[in-house]
Amino acid sequence: MGIIVPDLVEQYLSSLNRTHDAVVDDIARAGVERGLPLVDAEVGALLRVLATAIGARRMLEIGTAIGYSGIWMAGALPPDGSLLTLEMDQGRAREARDNFARAGLADRVNVIVGDAKLMVAKVSGPFDLIFQDGDKQLYTPMLDRLVSLLRPGGLLVTDNVLWDGEVVPGYLPKPVRNAADTRAIKEYNERITTHPALITSIIPLRDGVSISVKKYDH
Ligand SMILES: C[S@@+](CC[C@H](N)C(=O)[O-])C[C@H]1O[C@@H](n2cnc3c(N)ncnc32)[C@H](O)[C@@H]1O
Repeated sequence: MGIIVPDLVEQYLSSLNRTHDAVVDDIARAGVERGLPLVDAEVGALLRVLATAIGARRMLEIGTAIGYSGIWMAGALPPDGSLLTLEMDQGRAREARDNFARAGLADRVNVIVGDAKLMVAKVSGPFDLIFQDGDKQLYTPMLDRLVSLLRPGGLLVTDNVLWDGEVVPGYLPKPVRNAADTRAIKEYNERITTHPALITSIIPLRDGVSISVKKYDH
């Protein structure tokens, strides 16, 4: 459980998340057992809701890990839709491919191995939805490129923007997370909330999720 939303509220939200899927549940269990930093099911459901709401056909993810959030996203795609997901760790990328296949989504998902900072210069947009969940210190350096890859009305969704509350001055008596990451996320939050091409709302769900929509007149 996180430390932003009280445990009982989180348990209640979790009890209402009824999108049961054996493969998704199995990957979540493996993630917890191995201490992998996967999104929680509530954030997964949010991604699926957003992708469905905007009728997303092309999506991009930064930070695949073993494919958990990607399955939530790709599950919203039509049969001819696509998710391109970037991961620098070969072993995780291999597992992700297996997991996408187990979920019956292999035909819609392309896992690319490499440094996302370099890869995003090579991919071509436009994307309907981009999920940023990679290296926190790359959030700001990658922002303008990701915005340029979004279609007008497209969504940039970013995880961990509240960073266990550590970005909030005075919230924790003794911060424990990497201070450089904390500074990077604070800077990112400033940028996405003042970016001329974006309208942003931050949801205090789990570790904090920002949702930015690219303006139509930009
Ligand atoms: C928080 S995890 C992603 C979790 C995944 N989105 C999920 O919820 O199922 C971040 C992932 O980004 C990868 N990563 C970190 N820096 C990266 C980079 N520069 N390029 C590509 N992947 C990177 C890490 O190896 C890690 O697997």
